Amino acid sequence: MYNIVFIGPPGGGKGTQADMVCKDLNIPHISTGEIFRAMMKEGKSELADLVRSYVSKGELVPDEVVVDVLFDRISKDDCQNGYLLDGFPRSLNQAEVLDAKLKNSPLTHVILIDVDEELLFKRLTGRRTAVKSGKIYNIYFNPPKVEGKCDVSGEDLIIRDDDKPETVTNRMKVYKDQTMAAVEYYRAKKVLRVVRGEKNIDVVFAELKEVLKS
Ligand code: AP5
Ligand code: MG
Repeated sequence: MYNIVFIGPPGGGKGTQADMVCKDLNIPHISTGEIFRAMMKEGKSELADLVRSYVSKGELVPDEVVVDVLFDRISKDDCQNGYLLDGFPRSLNQAEVLDAKLKNSPLTHVILIDVDEELLFKRLTGRRTAVKSGKIYNIYFNPPKVEGKCDVSGEDLIIRDDDKPETVTNRMKVYKDQTMAAVEYYRAKKVLRVVRGEKNIDVVFAELKEVLKS
C-alpha cells in the first residue's frame, strides 16, 4: 500500500515524477494544482472564480476550499489501494489536518523533491504542458520531438498562466513562507525523505523508486 506525498518547490519536478511513479505503481496521481486548473478551465462558477483569484497571483487557495477538494478526491474508490498526493499539503495546517484525517491509514512516504532556487526559474518559464495527455515538457531541458506538440497526443502545448515571471517569483516566496513549515513538520516527525531534483529526469526517477522500496 502506498499513500505518498510529494512536496517541494514550484518547478521541482513533482508533476513530472508523479506521472511516472503512478504509472509504475498503478495508483492515482492527485495534484491539487491540476484539479484547480481543470476547475478554472470549465469556466464560470463562483468556486472557479475564487480559485482563479488566488492561483493567478501564485497565492495558496484557502485551506477550507483545498481541504474539501482533496478529501473528496481521496474518498473515491480508486484511492482505496493507495494514491500519490502532488502539491498537498503545502502549509503546516494542511499537513496537520491530513494526518488527523488519515489516522487509520497514514502516509507511507513523504518525499521532498528539492531543487536549487536558480534552476527553478528556468524550469518554470521553459515549461510547456499538454492538457489532455498530462505530459509536461521543457523547452530547455526536456523538449518535445516536434516543437509545440505533445509526443503522445500530438495536441498543442500550452504555457501555464501562473508561469509568468512575476507569478513565479511570488510562488517561490509562498513556498518559503508557508510550505517550508510543512516540510519542517515532517522532518521533525522523522518521516521526511529527501531526493535531489537537479539531476536528469530518469536519474531522479530511479532514486525515487529506491526510496519507495523502503
Ligand atoms: P501546482 O500545480 O501544484 O504548482 P507548483 O507546486 O507550483 O508546482 P509546479 O506544478 O509548478 O511544479 P512541479 O514540481 O510539478 O514541476 P514539473 O514536474 O511541472 O499548484 C498551482 C497553484 O494551485 C498554486 O500556486 C496554488 O495557487 C494552487 N494550489 C495547489 N495546491 C494547493 C494547496 N495544497 N493549497 C493551496 N493552494 C494550492 O516540472 C517543472 C519543469 O521542469 C517542467 O518544464 C519539466 O519538464 C522540467 N523538469 C522536471 N524535472 C526535471 C529534471 N529532472 N531536469 C530537467 N528539467 C526537469
Ligand atoms: Mg506540478
